[in-house]
Amino acid sequence: MAISQDYKFHDHTFDVVVVGAGGAGLRATLGCVERGLKTACITKVFPTRSHTVAAQGGISASLGNMGPDDWRWHMYDTVKGSDWLGDQDAIEYLCRHAPEAVFELEHFGVPFSRTEEGKIYQRPFGGMTTNFGEGIAQRTCAAADRTGHAILHTLYGQSVRHSAEFFIEYFGIDLIMDDAGVCRGVVALDQATGELHRFSSSLVILATGGYGRAYFSATSAHTCTGDGNAMVIRAGLPLQDMEFVQFHPTGIYGAGCLITEGARGEGGYLTNSAGERFMERYAPSAKDLASRDVVSRAMTMEIRDGRGVGPKKDHIHLHLDHLDPAVLKERLPGISESAKIFAGVDLTKEPIPVLPTVHYNMGGIPTNFHGEVLTLKDGNPDTVVPGLMAIGEAACVSVHGANRLGSNSLIDLVVFGRAAGIRAAELVQPSQRQPELLKSAGENAIERLDHFRHAKGGTPTADLRLQMQRAMQEDAAVFRTQESLEQGCKRVAEVFSGIEDIRVTDRSLVWNSDLIETLELDNLIVQAIATVEGAVARQESRGAHAREDFPNRDDVNFMKHTLAWVDPATGKATLDYRPVHTYTLSNDIEYIKPKARVY
Ligand code: FUM
Repeated sequence: MAISQDYKFHDHTFDVVVVGAGGAGLRATLGCVERGLKTACITKVFPTRSHTVAAQGGISASLGNMGPDDWRWHMYDTVKGSDWLGDQDAIEYLCRHAPEAVFELEHFGVPFSRTEEGKIYQRPFGGMTTNFGEGIAQRTCAAADRTGHAILHTLYGQSVRHSAEFFIEYFGIDLIMDDAGVCRGVVALDQATGELHRFSSSLVILATGGYGRAYFSATSAHTCTGDGNAMVIRAGLPLQDMEFVQFHPTGIYGAGCLITEGARGEGGYLTNSAGERFMERYAPSAKDLASRDVVSRAMTMEIRDGRGVGPKKDHIHLHLDHLDPAVLKERLPGISESAKIFAGVDLTKEPIPVLPTVHYNMGGIPTNFHGEVLTLKDGNPDTVVPGLMAIGEAACVSVHGANRLGSNSLIDLVVFGRAAGIRAAELVQPSQRQPELLKSAGENAIERLDHFRHAKGGTPTADLRLQMQRAMQEDAAVFRTQESLEQGCKRVAEVFSGIEDIRVTDRSLVWNSDLIETLELDNLIVQAIATVEGAVARQESRGAHAREDFPNRDDVNFMKHTLAWVDPATGKATLDYRPVHTYTLSNDIEYIKPKARVY
């Protein structure tokens, strides 16, 4: 296709282009500029509105400020939390480097809450234990219940201070890949002017977050559409472990907004319609602080068995009303406000109505622990895509495996955002000469944009999105069966076909939310397909993937990562598998062998 006269590129050249300005994107941006690399950060929303801003309860690191701790205990908990699907080399890297990553944040200026002695305050979180499962650890470093907000603002300030160049409210349309499979840059639309920008760079780092909005009810912002994951799919590369979708136990009933797990860390507990603290039956040791998949399943079972609360008996109560109001004010000010606004509840006096709500994607773009994207071509585990990295929720390193522990997300963002900056400086010299882009580079992005801009079918984008979100919510939920998942595959395939008949009403390129939402839906649907297809094929229960028809973990047949390619033209998924890394990085730590996962 020759570039139509309607479209003209503004060309830029950078050493590194980071797509996304959440915690991972900003940490990588900062790491690259600090090392003298000319770095652009492209973001579809203002950086401090990225979804990391909504992270509440904290960031895990074995600082030991509130009692004994050890990074090896953190590693054990993370491996167990992952239900042995996490790669242990990457988990070791995460937990070993977590304390220094947090101290760096402290020095950058993150306003952490403090202990009486002035140390960083740490609270208990689900699945975080001492001494390999024996006690409850206080490992989650907190800035009240606005930890993500504090980190994001600090990292943005630091990146600006180091002269990173921000391209704000630019929507990334597609990667520029050359014929040899090398990533050469990215094309983005400046939403404010409607102008197209072509970024040539030695390295593109995708930090585009998760795709929670494939579901109807999610704690994720409306912007969480996994745009980078879909770019990778369109580049003919696989996504990994997409069937593992985390439901956070405490989304506000009806609204979906997050009530932090820190609420239970500070002493909150769940009850059913009989007023019973039912978690004591499901997780006798950890109780309300069992890992998220365990708590979400227990809540769902209580509701199914008729012990839900409310007129429809369809949710659960979270109690904080027994706690000292001064503690709530100091430690949980944000959720006190959210409970009032979104549930009309004064949490010092009454319980909050809650329900398991989609919160996090364990799956994403497969990478090594440096952040380099893996091709996984012909089963080769080590080949990387030159010029392309992925970090944060967009990536699957894989440290979370089948289930992420709360507060391991923020630490993943900064540890691997930092690692990406380090690796970038090893791979790229400042102002390194780049091969000139072909004239045709970026035409794929224009073609895509033009196609949807002129879509004149009969189906509004919002209708198709709702169909997809309902299918995912109903058929790929906390519990799954062959029947529900096969139905889910059929329903999302219908949505995919429906995109042919999509209608975009506004032809403008300036602030055209209809067009942007259509591009986002086009991104979401391929990820929805990878999710349900991966789920139907995984005939076992592991972590967040709970099959009622295959209730046990099957290490013989399924201790392996799912790889999913989706043909963007047909919506057909192809699956393959790769082994879990059952080795560690260093000699001073041993592989943690699989065992039954009880809390
Ligand atoms: O519950 C929370 O505060 C969420 C934290 C997380 O997902 O890591």
